[in-house]
Amino acid sequence: MDMEKLVSLCKRRGFIFPSSEIYGGLNGFWDYGPLGVELKRNIKEAWWRDNVTMRDDMAGLDCSIIMNPKVWEASGHVGGFSDPMVDCKSCNGRFRADQLRYLEYISSDIDPKTNEHRRVFFHGVGSVEELVEKFRKQIDKIPHKETDTDHPPLTRCYSEMDSKYHEQFHCPTCGEVGTLTEPRSFNLMFKTYVGALESETNIAYLRPETAQGIFANFKNVVDTGRYKIPFGIAQIGKSFRNEINPRNFIFRSREFEQMEIEFFCRPEDAQEWYAYWRKARFQWYVDHGIQSDRLHLRDHDAEELAFYSTATADIEYAFPFGVSELEGIAHRGDYDLGQHQKFSGKDLTYFDEEKKERYLPHVIEPSAGADRATLAFLCEAYTEDQVAGETRTVLKLNPRFAPIKAAIFPLVKRDGMPELAEAIYRDLKRHFNVFMDEKGAIGRRYRRQDEAGTPVGITVDGQTITDGTVTFRDRDSCRQWRVPSHNVVAALRDLLEGGAIPAATEAPAPSPESA
Ligand code: GAP
Repeated sequence: MDMEKLVSLCKRRGFIFPSSEIYGGLNGFWDYGPLGVELKRNIKEAWWRDNVTMRDDMAGLDCSIIMNPKVWEASGHVGGFSDPMVDCKSCNGRFRADQLRYLEYISSDIDPKTNEHRRVFFHGVGSVEELVEKFRKQIDKIPHKETDTDHPPLTRCYSEMDSKYHEQFHCPTCGEVGTLTEPRSFNLMFKTYVGALESETNIAYLRPETAQGIFANFKNVVDTGRYKIPFGIAQIGKSFRNEINPRNFIFRSREFEQMEIEFFCRPEDAQEWYAYWRKARFQWYVDHGIQSDRLHLRDHDAEELAFYSTATADIEYAFPFGVSELEGIAHRGDYDLGQHQKFSGKDLTYFDEEKKERYLPHVIEPSAGADRATLAFLCEAYTEDQVAGETRTVLKLNPRFAPIKAAIFPLVKRDGMPELAEAIYRDLKRHFNVFMDEKGAIGRRYRRQDEAGTPVGITVDGQTITDGTVTFRDRDSCRQWRVPSHNVVAALRDLLEGGAIPAATEAPAPSPESA
């Protein structure tokens, strides 16, 4: 799947626009248009329903974005939430040192100066796959030491490179050599001031994650809700990170939404709950349409783990720009509650009535990004297929996520068809987000809805006038069948809830496929 095609479809069909585009946009900020807002809301609502309202052991929260700055001291974000930043002295380009990668090939040529095999470097921002693709022609010209296969190059990033090689590095923007600075630490939190004075004492931060609001409210929820361990607290909301290099469309932006759970349990049960959430969260993506081998579950190596974590796994998706994290599931021990207890001076221990014991619960944290999930579902859904000898673009979205659930088309604008279609549309609209389109050729109307991911097309045609049936058409198979018009709500509900697609009927309405 070509990322450019998806970005263009998102713009053209009103899913996602660059923020404040009429003023030239703002790097790292995006707006969701009429279709995009429905898609993202549906994803968030499905997540909330499956993880909160359908469960007996989960509470929801909606915390403020700006909190007492001590929260971020306790969490470690003030001291340590930073990325290594590198600047180009020539063009002022700014990069994350861990994203400035290089490919290193060992040539079969001998360098006369060192009498060793010559090392060839290619530099840039991006995944290994992107860099290999970008430098394919030059790479092919290198006489490889290993001649058997096109062996994988050594890939590292700028901060892992011996600094003696830094002067060989090309700036990915202007191409100058040796103009990049040494990496410097850059805190990713957006700062602001609360109140009229802009002084050090008034500094506050836009939250970089929703999780800390949950920890800060743990005691409130326990005291007011009678929740008993094991239980979780969930929150969906905006987070802000002043990313050095926002990129890849909505994958890495500076303002985004998270869907986070902090699941509190007894220390001795934590490993079991970690295994539970690791599996459950992976399955959620599978159940909602990512059934391909593009979805991976990767356990962190011991060196990758935070010092307080005994286990962490990432759910990753093979995006067109490389394999990247969709969601992390972390066993965080009692680190966060311990830190907030220390910094606030408040007792955050929990009294376990059954065990007659007081302790700090351990925490399992499944932390997902709503925008990254939206992007992954869009990438997975984007399909170009051949229908009746024509290439069509279709978003094969899970019906639960589809922005529009059905489109209603009067075949022609006469013979009472628009009036009948309007009545069906009004009836359906009380239950679902549906759309009526009476303009243009029926084939073009179907194609527009295919691109929007609308699962069902409902056409009012000549036969509707005589026998009261309408034609249903399934987006993915293009199969058509007739349904009594008094039954459209129940028939649509059944399809949206996963009901089988009926067999095709003999006299469907004309469509691009049947014409
Ligand atoms: N509380 C843990 C936490 O925030 P994280 O791995 O930094 O962990 C969790 O973020 C999820 O939030 C990521 O898996 C990703 O889906 C999303 N996310 C993080 N930074 C993002 C960004 N700059 N743009 C879009 N989504 C982001």
